[in-house]
Amino acid sequence: MDKFLIKGGNPLRGTVSVSGAKNSALPVMAATLLTADQVTVHNIPKVRDLITMSKLLAFMGATVSITEIPASDYTISTPTLNHAEAPYELVKTMRASILTLGPLMARLGIAHVSLPGGCAIGARPIDLHLAALEKMGAEITISHGYIEAKVPNRGRLKGAHIIFDKITVTGTENILMAAVLADGESILENAAREPEITDLIVMLRKMGACITGDGTSTLRIRGVKELHGTEHTVIPDRIEAGTFLIAGAITGGDLTVANCDPGHLGAVIAKLQQSGVETETVDKSTLRVRPARKLAGADVTTEEYPGFATDMQAQYMALATQAEGTSVITETIFENRYLHASEMVRMGANISVDGRRAVVRGPAELSGTTVQASDLRASAGLVLAGLVSSGETLIDRVYHIDRGYEGIVEKLSSVGADITRIHAPST
Ligand code: UD1
Repeated sequence: MDKFLIKGGNPLRGTVSVSGAKNSALPVMAATLLTADQVTVHNIPKVRDLITMSKLLAFMGATVSITEIPASDYTISTPTLNHAEAPYELVKTMRASILTLGPLMARLGIAHVSLPGGCAIGARPIDLHLAALEKMGAEITISHGYIEAKVPNRGRLKGAHIIFDKITVTGTENILMAAVLADGESILENAAREPEITDLIVMLRKMGACITGDGTSTLRIRGVKELHGTEHTVIPDRIEAGTFLIAGAITGGDLTVANCDPGHLGAVIAKLQQSGVETETVDKSTLRVRPARKLAGADVTTEEYPGFATDMQAQYMALATQAEGTSVITETIFENRYLHASEMVRMGANISVDGRRAVVRGPAELSGTTVQASDLRASAGLVLAGLVSSGETLIDRVYHIDRGYEGIVEKLSSVGADITRIHAPST
């Protein structure tokens, strides 16, 4: 397994560029299954989850061709869907494989998708996806670890009025994709409002879907007979951008974050400003962070968009270890998302965790040691802690970070970080 070696202490200076959003590219790729025509998607990040998604689509019968320059462009066509299956081998490496369930049910009326199971950060059930599909007329059974779903007589799903008990991002995306080809109108209430959902809606609309309400918690979808091909550019990754903003802030650097959408980063910017960090919107796709005169602790509660994203919680915790005073972090989305805290404590941080609440007292002098990455965003938090630790930090299991951050070593090195990848010896 590859590792990262970080020698901390360098302030980051210069410009770093943000890649396309992983969490947008995943549903957008799944949505290509909804048409027999060719779809071209630009700005797909070069990260492992997207390679996994392309393998999954190819397994189902899609032809996927990838061009690398300047960002990854994928051209996907699925004239025939011959395998309505998401096998366990692929689903176990990427939970977002569940995003093929909605498109398969919409186009074929049948799906055989492995249950994703829990993961390090929590149980992560998909009951709301399944209940909504049942309301749309699907018959669903779970057997041998697989979801067996079908529309009676291989017909079409029916439009339905769905009120999600809880806000779910991939649940909203799955049901949106199911509803676009359903008979009649669907109304989704308490839908997620993340920018990645809006991006998916923009693309579905270009394919011929009738959807209104994007950006709100009520989506109305009028099913159409079929969708056609299109071309789409994925939005910038707001979590990668937020991670870079914190990297600039925590190292006391002067960092410009280019190719981002400042409009998607309101909660992170507000929290940085509250902590004393100077942020500037340079133009509509560029932000700049400058050193805080004094970094002050601030409380954070994770929430659905437009609140502070749970995917930024570990990175914010790293910053809080360097801030003067007490920061109380409350994680409301996932029940077990503090695995990075104990590793930060091993580096010298003062953090106590009690259930969903973590109390961080700072500033603490961090010192480098060997730490284990436990999930994608926890790894990012540990990288940030490593950037301000004395001596060397060795981060193990960085395959987690490779799932979602394109070229993080190269990008951070280009702005002054001393970070290298140690490749696992080939077996
Ligand atoms: C997505 C993101 C992930 C982010 C998360 C929350 C992708 C590929 N992943 O994950 O990066 O951290 O949103 O912003 O976009 N829940 C249920 N039943 C369900 C579905 C969800 O109880 O059927 C619960 C979950 O366990 C969790 C909460 O609802 O506690 C939110 O989960 P959800 O929004 O579905 O997260 P994901 O879509 O899996």
